Amino acid sequence: MRMKNKYRKPTSLRCNAGSRCSSSVLLWSLVGCLLMLHLYSYIRDQDVHSQESHLHIGRHPEILELEQFEEDSIQIPPPRKRSPRAAKRKPRKVHTSLIEEFLDESSQIRHIFFPDQKTAIDPMSDNGDETHFYYPGRIWLDTTGNPIQAHGGGILYDDRTKTYYWYGEFKDGPTYHAHKRAAARVDVIGVGCYSSKDLWTWKNEGIVLAAEENDETHDLHKLNVLERPKVIYNDKTGKYVMWMHIDDTNYTKASVGVAVSNFPTGPFTYLYSKRPHGFDSRDMTVFKDDDGIAYLLYSSEDNSELHVGPLSEDYLDVTETMRRILVGQHREAPAVFKHQGMYYMITSGCTSWAPNEALAHASESIMGPWETIGNPCIGGDKIFRHTTFFSQSTFVLPVHGIPGLFIFLADRWNPADLRDSRYVWLPLTLGGPVDQPFEYSFGFPLWSRVSIYWHKKWRLPFSWRGKE
Ligand code: DGJ
Repeated sequence: MRMKNKYRKPTSLRCNAGSRCSSSVLLWSLVGCLLMLHLYSYIRDQDVHSQESHLHIGRHPEILELEQFEEDSIQIPPPRKRSPRAAKRKPRKVHTSLIEEFLDESSQIRHIFFPDQKTAIDPMSDNGDETHFYYPGRIWLDTTGNPIQAHGGGILYDDRTKTYYWYGEFKDGPTYHAHKRAAARVDVIGVGCYSSKDLWTWKNEGIVLAAEENDETHDLHKLNVLERPKVIYNDKTGKYVMWMHIDDTNYTKASVGVAVSNFPTGPFTYLYSKRPHGFDSRDMTVFKDDDGIAYLLYSSEDNSELHVGPLSEDYLDVTETMRRILVGQHREAPAVFKHQGMYYMITSGCTSWAPNEALAHASESIMGPWETIGNPCIGGDKIFRHTTFFSQSTFVLPVHGIPGLFIFLADRWNPADLRDSRYVWLPLTLGGPVDQPFEYSFGFPLWSRVSIYWHKKWRLPFSWRGKE
């Protein structure tokens, strides 16, 4: 018979007086812990889902259509058969890369880069189902049937007239080289301006800032350089202010020029040029922030870095404040935009008129520091992505009413005939993790990947088209 031994150690945990622990207490604590854990992971899941759905809310459903990968490839053509006499007369150019092919005006595949007149986009003709399509690289006609001349340009949406204005270099003149080693050029004609309600049909508003024909000392003398004009509206003064790159034939003046007008369609009055903050300035842009403060960004120190600084309140000058950004990265052709409080910029490398690889940059503050977050180009094939689709950035335009959708504007320069340079407009969206390590930030990036999608043809979402 088993006797109950009151001195025997109990098998269950038991503490007496004041601290009564039992297996059931332990069990309940365990259950409690599990419940807490479950609750925590539930809340976390909800959080992630709400972030994801927030991303989706931010992304217009019609954006997804534009984010389709479109493959496209160009082959280097086999060398042409030539008679032995012809081969002796002129040795054959052997192209090892498509960039050389692109730059060769007698290339057999030139029509791929510069499609001929027959394929021109003419918004005024009966386009049937083809209406509103952008065809990157094709000739684009204005409402009078002439090729649009707005190179190195930018677009201003004017709230007062509910109209888009596209300003750019009017280059409808002969291309030549000022001397043997100089880059191809066209004499300055002026800044062209085109207006549109739908971003597809453009009316020529004329030359809003004209070259100076006779006065050789004038910045706008035709033998100088006027590039990359950008216009912003000053809400306080009610003036339209144009900033541009002003240079001499050999690009040694390296300055910015400023002009002003009471109307978006000009005429603009040229004010002056200067080296901002005392530094050389070549490719440049201006960016007007939501708070009305505008900034000048320019390639400096022989294009080895960029400088950024706020403009004065009237936008007619820079202030003393300036920061160096992308130091040592040798970038030009800056195009700045903002999304969900973050600043983004696309730049190109520095290879004169030849195409090269675009890079995207991001920053919490426009004054920097700016992180370089990789090549934004998607689709086409490798060479498309390494040449920014054979073009160079000039501007990024937010599509009003569709958060997260932008139009990337670039120039496909034709150094053999600069007036025949083409426009490459493509959809740009933001989302997903960036694909390059950070230099300045640690931990979770605050910005998203910038993606520019190649399309042979594309158009803005149906719901947007024609809306003001
Ligand atoms: C590249 C620049 O981005 C263009 O605006 C122009 O200045 C060319 N260089 C001239 O070679």
